Amino acid sequence: MPCIVFANPKGGAGKSTSAVILSSELALKGAAVTILDADPNKPVSAWAKRANCPANITVLADISETTIIDEIEAAVSKTPFVVVDLEGTASMMVAYAISRADLVIIPIQGSQLDAEQGAKAIGLIKQQERAFHRSIPFAVLFTRTNSAIKPRTLLHIQQEFTTHGVRSFESQLNEREAFRALFSFGGTLESLDPKQVGNLDKAISNAREFAAEVVAMLRGEVGPKGDEKEEVMADAR
Ligand SMILES: Nc1ncnc2c1ncn2[C@@H]1O[C@H](COP(=O)(O)OP(=O)(O)OP(=O)(O)O)[C@@H](O)[C@H]1O
Ligand SMILES: [Mg+2]
Repeated sequence: MPCIVFANPKGGAGKSTSAVILSSELALKGAAVTILDADPNKPVSAWAKRANCPANITVLADISETTIIDEIEAAVSKTPFVVVDLEGTASMMVAYAISRADLVIIPIQGSQLDAEQGAKAIGLIKQQERAFHRSIPFAVLFTRTNSAIKPRTLLHIQQEFTTHGVRSFESQLNEREAFRALFSFGGTLESLDPKQVGNLDKAISNAREFAAEVVAMLRGEVGPKGDEKEEVMADAR
């Protein structure tokens, strides 16, 4: 079933946060999710060890360059959704994960320097497309954006990507305390306490919008691979 890889060689771009948000929303819709925590710092494993991790999320860690392809293949044969969180670097492990992706999500923050690192991730995807003779769908996800203001720099970067035929998600992950709180308290946005975390409702609708767009993108770009996948996608909507 689909393998969604979060990649950007830039550290701190929002890969782990976006991966946890997506996985939690898919899990809350009833779909089982395997997250491959392919970052040696194991941020997703640390999140999962805290309270309230959904029972239908499995996190696998201790993944190496030699095992990543086998881990992905085993997970996609067993789970409706596989999410891979990668280290902020350009390594063989990153390249191997990209080579097996049904969708690569490139989280970037809205600055020129971040966009340049995002472009490096795209270069890596193109290289894997050539190496494996297959097309690898990908899209840029703007993270930590301001929900109220659209700065000119961000608009400029979005236009640049569009001009170069690079697709961006319509939804952006706004800068939200709730997204940070996930890693402090564990669990899902829905399990956080609105008395402790401000604007939780807005964060939840932001997360749902993003997850729905990922599912729509998988359906549109990759196409159903069988009845089972169609059912899972319908469940996850
Ligand atoms: N939408 C957001 N709102 C608020 N804080 C965020 C958001 N996205 C990420 N952050 C914060 O930014 C920092 C970096 O995010 P994250 O760890 O997800 O990036 P990363 O790309 O996985 O980093 P690395 O390359 O080190 O693995 C973290 O402190 C995280 O809490
Ligand atoms: Mg990370």
